[in-house]
Amino acid sequence: MADTNAAEPIRFAYWVPNVSGGLVVSKIPQRTGWDGDYNRRLAQIAEEAGFDYALTQIRFTAGYGAEYQHESVAFSHALLAATSKIKVIAALLPGPWNPTLAAKQVATIAQLTGDRISVNIVSGWFSGEFRAIGEPWLDHDERYRRSEEFIRALRGIWTQDAFSFRGDFYRYADYTLKPKPGTPLPEIFQGGSSRAARDMAARVSDWYLTNGGGPEDIRAQVEDIQGKARANGHSVKIGVNAFVIARDTEAEARAVLQEIIDQADPEAVKAFGHEVKNAGKASPEGEGNWAKSSFEDLVQYNDGFKTNLIGTPDQIAERILALKDIGVDLALLGFLHFQEEVKYFGDEVIPRVRALEAARERRAEAA
Ligand SMILES: Cc1cc2nc3c(=O)[nH]c(=O)nc-3n(C[C@H](O)[C@H](O)[C@H](O)COP(=O)(O)O)c2cc1C
Repeated sequence: MADTNAAEPIRFAYWVPNVSGGLVVSKIPQRTGWDGDYNRRLAQIAEEAGFDYALTQIRFTAGYGAEYQHESVAFSHALLAATSKIKVIAALLPGPWNPTLAAKQVATIAQLTGDRISVNIVSGWFSGEFRAIGEPWLDHDERYRRSEEFIRALRGIWTQDAFSFRGDFYRYADYTLKPKPGTPLPEIFQGGSSRAARDMAARVSDWYLTNGGGPEDIRAQVEDIQGKARANGHSVKIGVNAFVIARDTEAEARAVLQEIIDQADPEAVKAFGHEVKNAGKASPEGEGNWAKSSFEDLVQYNDGFKTNLIGTPDQIAERILALKDIGVDLALLGFLHFQEEVKYFGDEVIPRVRALEAARERRAEAA
């Protein structure tokens, strides 16, 4: 399947560490910072290194790490102001946000930053967070029904004058937003892997971002989504999470992984696993993103070890090409020490990926 993306270079995104504690639930020392200065510098390093996107996170409260959390839209704007090429994806959580405010904020930022802002609609996993801020915690598939209306409303507000919409969650009557964002419109990403998430991606999203996984798991998701999207006449691209440990030797990389797991905070990992598995169990299929995740997998919030971008630059580049072969358009990456490792990835891995892609192109042309 999926040679549709063969001619396009695979894109790279990194997780913005705008919450404290990095991307692993581990006490291993990390040189990653969560503040503005660290992140502005990181965004500059990333765009220099060849990254296309930076993905911010939204958390309203601490839990399982992430003691401090900067807000995603304001933070995205700060990163855009400090850079000139990279696109920044602002996470939006329907509930706390409604489409009216989101459309207006993002349109303004698009105007101010040369249309480099995109959004990631997340449907929520943390019931305690919703309780803490007095937001109703909807059932799993209701959350996705709301997210889908959110996306339809957002796109409608951005593209139509006198926009009218009658949903169960949002209503508009002849609403005209001025100014609208420029073109290209902000891209609409979504994060999640359940059946409801895949169905929504196949109807309305520009991008589907999923947790890490092995090739068979990812291939099944790609086939499911692209089959449904074709039936709906919709076009969607796919991004996969991975936690990268790139070192000069495979042994070094594996040793770092082992140390992250050995220093995991067992109570926090178990509590996080309990929360996210429950969030998925509440779906009609009884599973979501983390249904099959082991203790070791859960040490990385989004199953990033499973994608196995752990080893030498050559090994990692080959595995990224293998992901591309099964229809993945974007690798969403986390690191232990972000600034240093994003630079190393740009120096050592991205050029190898581009060389492999060019060799494929040449072979395809010759054939
Ligand atoms: C790439 C990615 C980014 C996410 N970012 C956030 C976020 O910033 N804030 C948040 O509350 N949830 C975030 N989530 C979690 C989603 O909101 C969702 O609850 C979770 O993936 C479970 O979805 P599922 O039941 O469809 O599998 C993210 C998920 C993915 C895959």
